Amino acid sequence: MSTPSNRPGRLGVGVIGAGRVGAVLGAALRSAGHAVVGVTAVSAESTERAELLLPGVPVLTVPEVVERAELVLVAVPDDHLPELISGLAQGGHWQPGQLVVHVAGRWGTSVLEPARAAGAIPLAIHPAMTFTGMSMDLDRLADCPFGVTAPAAVRPIAQALVVEMGGEPVVIPEADRTLYHAALTHGANNLTTLIGQATQVLEEIGVDEPSRVLGALSRASVDNALRSGESTLTGPVVRGDAGTVREHRLALAEAALASGREDVLRTYTFMARATADRAKDRGALSPADHQRVVQALGPDAPDSPDSPALPQEPTPPVVVTSPQEFRTLLRSRAVALGPEATVGFVPTMGALHDGHGHLVRQARAENDLVAVSIFVNPLQFGPGEDLSRYPSDLPGDLARLTELGVDVVFAPAVEDMYPGGLPLVRVSSGELGNQLEGSSRPGHFDGVLTVVAKLFALVTGGHQVRAYFGQKDAQQLLIIQRMVRDLNVDVQICPVAIVRAPDGLALSSRNAYLNDDERAAALVLSRTLQELAQGAVTVEQARDAINVQQIGAGPDTVELDYLTVVDPQTLQPVDPVPGTLALVAARVGTTRLIDNHHL
Ligand code: PAF
Repeated sequence: MSTPSNRPGRLGVGVIGAGRVGAVLGAALRSAGHAVVGVTAVSAESTERAELLLPGVPVLTVPEVVERAELVLVAVPDDHLPELISGLAQGGHWQPGQLVVHVAGRWGTSVLEPARAAGAIPLAIHPAMTFTGMSMDLDRLADCPFGVTAPAAVRPIAQALVVEMGGEPVVIPEADRTLYHAALTHGANNLTTLIGQATQVLEEIGVDEPSRVLGALSRASVDNALRSGESTLTGPVVRGDAGTVREHRLALAEAALASGREDVLRTYTFMARATADRAKDRGALSPADHQRVVQALGPDAPDSPDSPALPQEPTPPVVVTSPQEFRTLLRSRAVALGPEATVGFVPTMGALHDGHGHLVRQARAENDLVAVSIFVNPLQFGPGEDLSRYPSDLPGDLARLTELGVDVVFAPAVEDMYPGGLPLVRVSSGELGNQLEGSSRPGHFDGVLTVVAKLFALVTGGHQVRAYFGQKDAQQLLIIQRMVRDLNVDVQICPVAIVRAPDGLALSSRNAYLNDDERAAALVLSRTLQELAQGAVTVEQARDAINVQQIGAGPDTVELDYLTVVDPQTLQPVDPVPGTLALVAARVGTTRLIDNHHL
C-alpha cells in the first residue's frame, strides 16, 4: 500500500455497508477509476444492492475489507460508527497510511480517533443528498454538495475524493458537524413529513391526487425560500389572519378526532408559532398581529416573553343545541388544546345570576375550556311545580357568559335532550333522594341525576372534566357526588360556596318570582340559619321564628317546610354540633326557597 498524495491515484477501495449511500458512493469511486476490492453486505437487500451497483465485487467480512483496502469507505448508521471503528482498532485491523472515510452526517473525524491512533488517515464526507440505492443516484452526485471534515493537512484528500465523484466539497468544521447535520435533517427530512401530513389531510377530505394539488405550491414555496429566503413567505400567519389560524386548528382538531391521530394538529401549531415569531423578528408581522396569532394558536404555543399583552375583546361563546354537536365541538376543542386540556363544565337551568357567575368564574380560572349548559329539565319538576313559568332569559344569559369568557354553551330544547319523549330509563337517587327536598318534591332528584348523567356523558371523553355545583343546593350536590362515586363517572365534582345578596338572601333564579314584600320576608331564612350557626337560637326557636314571619301587611305567612340539622354525608338528623349542616326550605308567597348553613 503506497502512501497517498493529495490527489489519490488509483486506490483499492473497500466498502463497509452496502446501504443506499455506501453502494452508490462505492460505485461513484469505481467510475472515478478506483478499484473496489470488497464490500460487506449483511441483509438480502444490501447483497442485492451490492450486486446491482458493484457487480463483480466480492462480498467479504468487515476485517477482510479493511485488510484489503487502501481506502475504507465506512457507510454504517451514525449510531453504529463509534463501536465499529474502535472494535476494528481493538482487533488491530487498521493500517498506517490507510484512508478511512466515513459518510455519517453527524460525525466529524473525532469518531475515527481509534483508527488515526493506529496510523490511518481520518476523513469525513457527507453527501447532502437523498438516495434511493439505485443507479440513478449516480447522476444525482453531479454537483452534489458534500460536507467535508478532516484535519487541515489531509483535508485536500477528502476534497479531491468528492470532486472525483462529481460532487462539490463544502468544508464543515469539526465542532459544527452535528448542527450541520441537524439543519439538513430539518430542511429535508422534516419537510418530507410536512408534505406527508398535508397530503394525508387532503386525502382524508377525498382529494383525488393530493400530491398534484399540493405539488405546484410546495415546489414554488421551496424554490422561493431557497432563492430569496423567508421574505417570500405568504399565508395567514404572516398576514396576521388570526381568525383563519384559529379555524384551521379547530378543523385539524376535528380531523384528529376522526382519524385518532393528532400529529398534524401539533405540528401545524408549532410550525405556525415558529413562522409567526420569525416573521415578527424580521418585521414582517406587527407585534399586535403576532400576539393575535399566538392567542389563536392556544396554550400549545406558549407566549413569547416580549409579546405585549393585548386588551382582550370578549368573544361570544359558540352556542349549540344538538347533543351530538356539543360532544364533537367540546372534544375537538379539547384536542386542539393538547393532551393535558381540562374542561370545566357548569350545568344550569338558565336565568343566570351572580351565583352562577361564581361557578363559571371558578371553572374559567381552573380549566382550559369552559362549557355551560342551559336546560330547564322537565324531568326534575313535579306536577303543579313551576316548570311552565320557570324564568328564562337566553340573550341575557349569553351576554353574561360572554363577559365571563365561556367557550361553549349547550342550550338544547326538550326535544333535543329527550328525543321521542322523556326517558324510560332513569338514574335513581335512592334513599338520599327521598328525604328533605325529595319528600316535598317526589322524583325531583331522579330527574336531576338523569339529566346530569346525560350531560356528563356528553362532556367526558379523552380529557379531564371538572363540574361545578353550588352549595346552596346542598342535597343535590351530595347526591351528584354520590352518583359520580357509585357509578364510576369520570368527572371531578367541584362545590362552590353559596353566593348571597348583601342582605344575606342566598341567590337563586327563583328569587325573580318574589315581590318586594316577599323578598323582605324571605330574609328570615338566612337570618335564622345564621343565628342557629352562632348558637343564638335552638332548632325549635329557629322554626318558630320562621313560622311567625308574615309577608308585608297581608295575611300571608312564610310557610316552613323543614328546618333541620343533618350529617352532611348521610343527611340523617343530628344534634346541632360543629361540622353539621342546617337546612331550610320554606314557601314564601308561592315561591319555594331553600338555604343552608354549615354549623
Ligand atoms: O342546579 C340546577 O340548576 C339543576 O338542578 C341542574 C344541576 C342544572 C340539573 O338540571
